[in-house]
Amino acid sequence: MPTLKPTILNELFAVAARTLKNSYSPYSKFKVGAAVLTGSGKIYGGTNIENASFGLTNCAERTALFSAIAAGEREFKALAIVFSQKGLGDLSTPCGACRQVMAEFCPPAMPIYTADVSSGKPERIVQKKLKDYYPYPFSPEALQKNPRRTK
Ligand code: THU
Repeated sequence: MPTLKPTILNELFAVAARTLKNSYSPYSKFKVGAAVLTGSGKIYGGTNIENASFGLTNCAERTALFSAIAAGEREFKALAIVFSQKGLGDLSTPCGACRQVMAEFCPPAMPIYTADVSSGKPERIVQKKLKDYYPYPFSPEALQKNPRRTK
């Protein structure tokens, strides 16, 4: 899968950074923004939405994907994730639950871009494929091969 055109990547980061501002994260205070580019060329944003019952938190990546899916999209070309993560240390990466959800809908070679937007612009940009993050997903095909489904 080819690398995105710089103008589209900028737009993807811009939507992710704008959506990060709507983060509802009073418990962790860790704001995340995401944006997904669809086959039709549209971009859908998402942010993390926490809950007093902590386990109900929805990550930015899943919010973006679910918004796109709810709008009828089924084809995904790229995903950007932005963190406001000043300072030293490695930039965050998508959590395991989001990787599994991505694997349901997105091609293994789909590029995932992460960036630190704490300065106001995307920095420390990392590009990896979904299959680099998540090489052995549990896939829908496994269910088709499951004999219990035929009973
Ligand atoms: N979070 C995301 O939204 N995406 C990630 O990639 C990592 C974690 C959120 C969940 C929670 O609201 C906060 O970050 C701290 O875990």
